[in-house]
Amino acid sequence: MSDYIWKKGSSTDVDERVMRFLAGDDVVLDRHLLPFDIRASQAHARGLARIGVISEAQAKAMVSSLDELAHAFSRGDFVLDQRYEDGHSAIESWLTEHLGEVGGRIHAGRSRNDQVAVALRLYLKDRLAGLGRVCAQVAEVCLQRAGREGGLPLPGHTHLQQAMPSSLGLWWGGHGEAFIDNLALAGQISDWLDACPLGTASGFGVNLPLDRDGVAEELGFARLVVNPQYAQNARGKVELRALDALAAATGDLRRLAWDLSLFASQEFGFVRIPAAFCTGSSIMPNKLNPDTVELLRSLHAGVMGARVELEGVLSLPSGYQRDLQDTKPPLIRAFERGLAGLELLPGLLSGLDWRAERMRSAIAPELHATDRANELVGEGQPFREAYRQAAAELDQLSRREPEESLRTRVSTGGCANLELDRLHRRLAGLTGPS
Ligand code: ARG
Repeated sequence: MSDYIWKKGSSTDVDERVMRFLAGDDVVLDRHLLPFDIRASQAHARGLARIGVISEAQAKAMVSSLDELAHAFSRGDFVLDQRYEDGHSAIESWLTEHLGEVGGRIHAGRSRNDQVAVALRLYLKDRLAGLGRVCAQVAEVCLQRAGREGGLPLPGHTHLQQAMPSSLGLWWGGHGEAFIDNLALAGQISDWLDACPLGTASGFGVNLPLDRDGVAEELGFARLVVNPQYAQNARGKVELRALDALAAATGDLRRLAWDLSLFASQEFGFVRIPAAFCTGSSIMPNKLNPDTVELLRSLHAGVMGARVELEGVLSLPSGYQRDLQDTKPPLIRAFERGLAGLELLPGLLSGLDWRAERMRSAIAPELHATDRANELVGEGQPFREAYRQAAAELDQLSRREPEESLRTRVSTGGCANLELDRLHRRLAGLTGPS
């Protein structure tokens, strides 16, 4: 272990076991934050030069040394490991190792408290953009397939009991619209947390005229977190809202995955999951199991757990408390695992192979009863009377075709009027020109 950056002399020596406990998984988790911490450190160095705390030449040297660190890290030549207390110390150690005394100047006017807060906001903006991208891809596949095979009949269920004839278009369009909403939410939450806490230091400001606005602008933030105390108190709160956006997507994914695992069962037999997303059984030679669908379904449990864990950690007074470090494991694990799963979804959905005949023949004649009741309403009967008559004549529905029922479902959004164009337009409005 290199010396801690806060070491003041032998009187501040800390037991190694204590240090290992305090660091927790920080060096592993900070691997996800390091690229953002480096960018923020470069902007901070330039900001320090603008107010004359360091020279232009020193800032340049720091920026290019940090570029080297970023490259070494992405190539795997620099490993963030137990030699460092965390990513922040690793950056300072790298700079002092490469630039000598100049490197130690990087920490003027900042604390690890605002350093971690800014790295986390940049990380979240990046991951929310990734979440938005994957939601847009999922929505696109759903709408495309709704357009292509939307007319195929599918039994519609409520209470998991057969209810009315429905269509594959309604099913695809429904999941598509959900992911358009999730794309919109990821963008809204990203805008909400698009504020720069850098330059608030340990939570009280500093006696240097830092160019906070200039640094925030260089980092691409829309605004500042103005108050230094709030810059710390917002830690965890921001992460929770980002997890809300992720949870919207994983929650919808859970439903979609449930549908697929039911539809893929032998009893339904409506769909085949592409083999590339399935595994075999170690004992039953006949099996091809939809494991991907199942682990996509359980992703949401991890996100819910992360939210609960964060809420638990946040029972704190104002200002920085080391407890805040424990917001990172649930957050980062939920986002990394969640996005890795969501990114499989467009490919999986594109490869679904529907068994149109099975879907159609599963529609029992009495599923036409609601259509019949509404037809009687069209002929002038009060609905309740029509309802009773249709119920008494369930055995007279056997000659009806599901396609005919779907053709009459003309209400906006209904099977004959899915309004896919409207959904495509909203999606295009949220993704911008491609
Ligand atoms: N690993 C720490 C965290 O995530 C970094 C900040 C440490 N600050 C401190 N004052 N010890 O919160």
